[in-house]
Amino acid sequence: MSQMVVTPLSDALGAEVTGIDAANLDDATFGRLRDALHDNIVLAVRGQALDPAAQTDFTRRFGEIQYHINSEYKMEDQPEVLILSTEIIDGKNVGIPDAGSDWHSDHSYVDRPTAYTILQSVIVPKVGGDTEWVNMVTAYETLSDEMKARIDGLIGIHSFNRTRNPRMKRPTRHQNEAEYYAEISPPDAFHPIVRTHPATGRKALYVSPRFTIGIRDMIEAEAQPLLDELFAQFANRDLVYHHNWRPGDLVMWDNRQTLHLACGGVIAPEVRRLHRTTVLGEIPF
Ligand SMILES: [Fe+2]
Repeated sequence: MSQMVVTPLSDALGAEVTGIDAANLDDATFGRLRDALHDNIVLAVRGQALDPAAQTDFTRRFGEIQYHINSEYKMEDQPEVLILSTEIIDGKNVGIPDAGSDWHSDHSYVDRPTAYTILQSVIVPKVGGDTEWVNMVTAYETLSDEMKARIDGLIGIHSFNRTRNPRMKRPTRHQNEAEYYAEISPPDAFHPIVRTHPATGRKALYVSPRFTIGIRDMIEAEAQPLLDELFAQFANRDLVYHHNWRPGDLVMWDNRQTLHLACGGVIAPEVRRLHRTTVLGEIPF
């Protein structure tokens, strides 16, 4: 048995894990790591250097790999790994340079969204490139009883197509956005606004400014203000953990209990490169 030590990173959520080698975990230690992930929502395992194959093996211990809908930045010889990078080589991006700059839960726009996301830091810039997470269990628990009753049983409409999202005004790097998003976006997904965690039984809010574009069976004039009211909670810094990446960080989170945000701010020639793997989750309930 290894000497795994779990230390909270903030009052909101998140814990640091030391004393383990993620590429070499016995089953008992892996089970304790997964329990710690469910409890703390985000884990930063320090001092890891998993190559793409080892990261894929580690990810498979949590369940089935989920592949990204965009095949452009999957690693050629290890397609389970998606490259997030600001590097430009021969005039071309080697990975997604700007993913996740609005609060979201990974792949919530498909019927079976991501359960866990795992990021291995590869190149850490001196400045910028931080990530934030918000605790969606606390976000739910701290709602008024009136609001809890109001959203009970409501179903959110999720879409990858940002041109259909009234909150996404900022242009992206895609030249013809309408065409790009219409082509790549899967059909709308419908998920309960309050979802229950299959392992802990805890309830969490499951909506995001990036992917939740409406509420089923509710007119826009009611749905959008209600979503705005729910999203307003992320301004409460007491619910947020801010992560400043270190070389060797292997960070994982439970998408059923948190939204995350890439803070950006990497200035060339500084580079930020992370390798991402994702685990297929259950149909939200
Ligand atoms: Fe993400």
